[in-house]
Amino acid sequence: MQRTQAPIGVFDSGVGGLTVVRALRAQLPGEEVFYLGDTARVPYGSKSPETVARYSLACARFLLKYRVKLLMVACNTASAHALPVLRNAFEVPVLGAVEPGARAAAGVTQAGHVGVIGTLGTIRSRAYEEALKRLNPSISVTGQACPLLVPLAEEGWTDDEITLAVARRYLRELAAKDPAIDTLVLGCTHYPLLSSMLQVAARDAFGRSVTLVDSATAMAHAARDVLVSRGEIQVESLGERSMGGQLRCFVSDASRLGELASRFLGESVGDFEQVDL
Ligand code: DGL
Repeated sequence: MQRTQAPIGVFDSGVGGLTVVRALRAQLPGEEVFYLGDTARVPYGSKSPETVARYSLACARFLLKYRVKLLMVACNTASAHALPVLRNAFEVPVLGAVEPGARAAAGVTQAGHVGVIGTLGTIRSRAYEEALKRLNPSISVTGQACPLLVPLAEEGWTDDEITLAVARRYLRELAAKDPAIDTLVLGCTHYPLLSSMLQVAARDAFGRSVTLVDSATAMAHAARDVLVSRGEIQVESLGERSMGGQLRCFVSDASRLGELASRFLGESVGDFEQVDL
């Protein structure tokens, strides 16, 4: 197995980005991952682009002290607001959530009508729309901010009638804007936890099933492609699942972590190291 020793750095506004780490560890089990959750300043979704860019720079600087070979911006809001700033500031390859999610959606839509759900910041930025239009200008893209879904996912109400009612309401608004949508991008770290419920709500809203695109999984695929293309890992070693790469987790505030983090990672998280950013 050939891989360079440097870890992959992943950051998010909080613990939601552990859904990306989960997908990454499934794709690249031998890789060491350093995760930073800016739990002291979460949520990013309701903050201004300038503030999110400033926070993102601080997160990136922290992870770069560990000489990460790839910086992954798990947070969709940070990806929407800060990617150019990060790419300008650092030499390390920077991978956001938007481009991989958009690419996956462009690849699966049959009708050419894509819906995007995310935080207020992500939807207002129109980042997914721009990315999809770059890939295929004929695709129609409609966004819907779903700010209540983040706290509901954090509460663990992933199989609850209240969350279903909220999801239905948001998706009905989306369906009213474009009934022809056949593909829905889950443009937020928290939504993979709600995917079964979103599938049900989408069927109700659109009167048929809609393909869900999970930006966390799309990001993990993109990370593998970046590392293979840079010669950081060998394609033939990708099937070796037994090599348990270490996961090291940092947070800027350690309150409520144990409970929340394992929900998003899908396994219990060892220790969190609290750090100042
Ligand atoms: N991580 C954020 C995102 O994916 C959701 C939580 C927040 O608003 O900070 O957009």
